[in-house]
Amino acid sequence: MAESFEIPTTKDKNLRYKLLYDQAKALLSAETNQLANMANLCAVLKYGMGFFWVGFYIIKDNELVLGPFQGTVACTRIAKGRGVCGTAWAEEQTILVENVDHFPGHIACSSLSKSEIVVPLFDINNNIFGVLDVDSDKLNDFDEIDQHWLELLVGLIQPYYSL
Ligand code: SME
Repeated sequence: MAESFEIPTTKDKNLRYKLLYDQAKALLSAETNQLANMANLCAVLKYGMGFFWVGFYIIKDNELVLGPFQGTVACTRIAKGRGVCGTAWAEEQTILVENVDHFPGHIACSSLSKSEIVVPLFDINNNIFGVLDVDSDKLNDFDEIDQHWLELLVGLIQPYYSL
């Protein structure tokens, strides 16, 4: 399949995610390499939703290590329980942060980042192996619609654990 991707024009966030999901499903199901799929999913979200920063952190030797991303240079290692990413890892659940300045221990990779959502990644045995971090340059930019679709979208890369 030719790799292709059409940026939705609708301002309806739910519909926008739906259109992205359908395209991401086609794109990612054609490839079994997880690293390649993570890279393309970052591009789908960065260009499809216009987010400031989208990237993966993968658990390696009891640390989160920066994986594929789209956006500005970011910190490479995060300890369990530190920042939003490390907290999502420790709690094994999605964390929505309306205002990063109000999140104790938030790790500021960019002063332009104002709100954030971090979604855990689970492998086929239901073990956490990383997180997806999405940052916005607007306050309060994420809600349960983002959580719903981002949790579905990361599901598209879960079956292939071949890093
Ligand atoms: N803000 C994140 C760190 C990663 S960067 O935003 C890309 C955190 O507090 O975990």
